[in-house]
Amino acid sequence: WAPKGSGIWRYATMLPMKAGVTMGEGRTPLVESRLKRNLWVKFEGANPTGSFKDRGMALGVTVAREAGANKVIVASTGNTAASAAAYAARAGLKAYVVLPRGNVARGKLVQAALHGAEILAVEGYFDKALSLVVEYGTRYAYPLNSFNPWRLEGQKTLAYEVYEELGCPDNIVVPVGNAGNIYAIWKGFRELGELGLCNKLPRMIGVQAAGAAPLARAWREGSQSPLFVESPSTIASAIRIGKPVNWVKAFIAVRESGGMFVEVDDADILRAQLALARVDGVGAEPAGAASVAGALALDLPGISVAVVTGHALKDPDVVEVRTTPVASQEELVSVLSR
Ligand code: F0G
Repeated sequence: WAPKGSGIWRYATMLPMKAGVTMGEGRTPLVESRLKRNLWVKFEGANPTGSFKDRGMALGVTVAREAGANKVIVASTGNTAASAAAYAARAGLKAYVVLPRGNVARGKLVQAALHGAEILAVEGYFDKALSLVVEYGTRYAYPLNSFNPWRLEGQKTLAYEVYEELGCPDNIVVPVGNAGNIYAIWKGFRELGELGLCNKLPRMIGVQAAGAAPLARAWREGSQSPLFVESPSTIASAIRIGKPVNWVKAFIAVRESGGMFVEVDDADILRAQLALARVDGVGAEPAGAASVAGALALDLPGISVAVVTGHALKDPDVVEVRTTPVASQEELVSVLSR
């Protein structure tokens, strides 16, 4: 444990590789929220491509390159695609991104195109795109979805950063889609515990959108396996996922930590997004605000950190924009003096 260096490689002693591709990911702001006492916000939207995916992609493209791959492939609701496109570009690799047509926010599509990924649009939901990648894609290109354990190794560094700034909080609240990140963060804390750096590990609280809540529903009903959703539906397109591939790992994280899964509805998510933006100054995309919606709804004892996973610019279309026309100096003065 001797943090030093750039991006996730700052924690090289804790990673399976010692150096590699980076764009300075990580070291994102941890801000005290004014929305609730003892609530902190870890703003992952401040990563190079605007989401937490960059932590995992730095390690993922490094492994891909070391393994001699020249192509990488991901299925994505958008952020993984944007991150894979950018990090593949930096590593000199070709990226293929398989996206559910009509289910991806505009900012993310633009990023994938800008960074030169080949965009493959499939009919259906993310779950269909992922099953295509698993069944056919991996023969031709190195897969960088979160079933790839190297991705999660990179993402666990979030735990180390929270530890450095705040110690070990009582609760970590994370939006859950394909369910990799909640496990990655848990693994990071568990390792801090093994090093004797955390006396008490945080509870992992997984937040799902009500229309795409296979794990939260299962949890509520005491089911040992997820209640898969065929047609997931939520404004939070990043977590519009009905069959999370990492569900076993997510159950492990929540059970081992004494945490829980909860669901929040779209109205809660949008309210949390606005409150976060207008009170704390943090601009989140809807999925990123889902953790805050969960933290606000729950009565959690002790210190909580809500992980705000993606930037508001990712999904500009969900925000209502109002402008006040000003045709003259007089009108300007009249507005300003109201
Ligand atoms: N928040 C955001 C902004 C995301 O983009 C995602 C996942 C999650 C939360 C959920 O993380 O899947 O590890 O549980 N986005 C993936 C993608 C599915 O393709 O970008 P998870």
